[in-house]
Amino acid sequence: MTQAPKILIFDSGLGGLTVYREIARLRPEARYTYLADDAAFPYGALSETGLVARVQAVLAAAIAEHAPDIVVIACNTASTLVLPPLRSAYPALPFVGTVPAVKPAAERSRSQMISVLATPGTVARDYTRTLIATHAGHCRVTLVGSQMLASLAEAEMKGEAIDPTAIAREIARCFVNEDGARTDTIVLACTHYPLLQDHFDRLAAWPVEWIDPAPAIARRVDAVLSEKFVSGAESQNTQPGRALFTSGRRPPGSLERALLKLRLQALDCAPMPAAVA
Ligand code: DGL
Repeated sequence: MTQAPKILIFDSGLGGLTVYREIARLRPEARYTYLADDAAFPYGALSETGLVARVQAVLAAAIAEHAPDIVVIACNTASTLVLPPLRSAYPALPFVGTVPAVKPAAERSRSQMISVLATPGTVARDYTRTLIATHAGHCRVTLVGSQMLASLAEAEMKGEAIDPTAIAREIARCFVNEDGARTDTIVLACTHYPLLQDHFDRLAAWPVEWIDPAPAIARRVDAVLSEKFVSGAESQNTQPGRALFTSGRRPPGSLERALLKLRLQALDCAPMPAAVA
């Protein structure tokens, strides 16, 4: 098949853009739909059953409307719960998810002290605990659930001024110094967080390696697509992709401009109000 693939990228908000931009680098020919469930943002605060029901409902509508060739759940908070039910509901459709990069962090850390920075939801998941037990048994792992960082990242992406002390407060617990050893590796286990990378570098208590799994996720998407679609790395799609928001609200001008720089155009979308807790 030579036709360009249709890729649906999904997140609660703007964090999935950090995954989208890596995929778009590898697959510039693809036709993109970026769907942000801003009506239910933040996912980190939702109950597990509420979140599964919400993601299933939003994606059922999006899959019916856009008929994607692949769906990328560019959200750790959702992926750590919803991949199994989605895969059984759509057995012919590939789903690629985003889960905390505990394994590469444990392999790279020299001090064997790593921190996982995520939403309160991701930190509480059995999935995350199992990842740690399976891949990081030899490390001391500190789980840090942040209430505020995803919202701060949204503000950053919209070009709003954000208070660096608020960011510093949220990341402080990632830096552990004990018994002569200290954290040297921090997993960014929420796709929003790489949007704040410059702040993290400036505010770090000491230099660490921050692990953003987006390039690895993009390689996985490319590999899955390669089973059906030839690589089109030389042929850029001339049309921008679509950015849709479940609130049905148009984004502010500053965000529309930022999206256009990423070759995404914000379009009107039928609102999907969130009725979950
Ligand atoms: N971007 C999300 C993640 O990767 C979730 C942020 C939120 O909605 O709380 O976990």
